[in-house]
Amino acid sequence: MSGEFVARYGPWALVAGASEGLGAEFARQLAARGLNVLLLARRAEPLEALAAELRRDHRVQARAAVVDLAAPDLVAQLGAAVGELEIGLLVYNAAYSVVGAFLDQELASTLRTIDVNCRGPVILSHVLGQKMAARRRGGIILMASLAAGQGVPLVATYAATKAFNLILAEGLWEELGRVGIDVVACRAGATRTPNFERTQPQGQSQGIVGEPGPVVTATLNALGRHPSVVPGWLNGMAAFLLGRLLPRRAAIQIMGKATRGMYER
Ligand SMILES: NC(=O)c1ccc[n+]([C@@H]2O[C@H](COP(=O)([O-])OP(=O)(O)OC[C@H]3O[C@@H](n4cnc5c(N)ncnc54)[C@H](OP(=O)(O)O)[C@@H]3O)[C@@H](O)[C@H]2O)c1
Repeated sequence: MSGEFVARYGPWALVAGASEGLGAEFARQLAARGLNVLLLARRAEPLEALAAELRRDHRVQARAAVVDLAAPDLVAQLGAAVGELEIGLLVYNAAYSVVGAFLDQELASTLRTIDVNCRGPVILSHVLGQKMAARRRGGIILMASLAAGQGVPLVATYAATKAFNLILAEGLWEELGRVGIDVVACRAGATRTPNFERTQPQGQSQGIVGEPGPVVTATLNALGRHPSVVPGWLNGMAAFLLGRLLPRRAAIQIMGKATRGMYER
């Protein structure tokens, strides 16, 4: 199984946004499946610590590169980080999100959400996808969210960027599938990561929150099988209810009630 996985998606995986949370978990599970891992994020220290852990625990090669995925010269930063490494699998995990009323947010911050969450995945998928296509094999994982299914008040821009990733992955699943590249979008529900914890108002009930391990396992298992995956059966039911059963305006209102309950006093 891990031999097949390495033959299909090796020898290197690149995880963009790997220093903590779901990105670090992707890196761990990919190393456990035998891939070498190139870890990208802005903070060198946690990246280097994770790279050392992967080398020690899984006996794979692991490298860390400091890259700002919102940078105007992202293509050049990516080229310098990747060098001659043969990247067979891209995981674009990083995201930027600000909670609050759309009109109260700094425009620069809103535009940064689009840079990290939309421009970044397009650049990395394009640059690395061209090389995968030339080899006629590879994989791309983009992070969407349950928020991708409908508009979500108070995180309207973030939710729209997650819909962008879902639709991008679906299109590429068909298009790049023809040249041997598997593409999948992960529509994760609330997942206990450091960033998720930081955005939770003190003392608020967190509802149903999943763990990174099963989310990543479900996503890796869906790669090469489905255009998108909703990890966890409860999240699957929520996606079905919101996306298929309810009228769209009701789904938006339910999401709005949830975010207002969480973030407004
Ligand atoms: N957690 C959830 O509840 C949840 C639910 C649904 C979907 N998702 C999706 O899952 C993905 C991961 O979420 P997460 O909660 O683990 O945390 P996240 O905050 O989206 O991602 C954290 C990682 O991204 C890196 N990062 C952020 N901005 C960056 C930038 N400009 N350049 C380079 N690296 C950057 C961070 O490292 P540095 O700070 O070191 O740069 C960190 O390694 C996201 O796409 C998110 O939308 C999460």
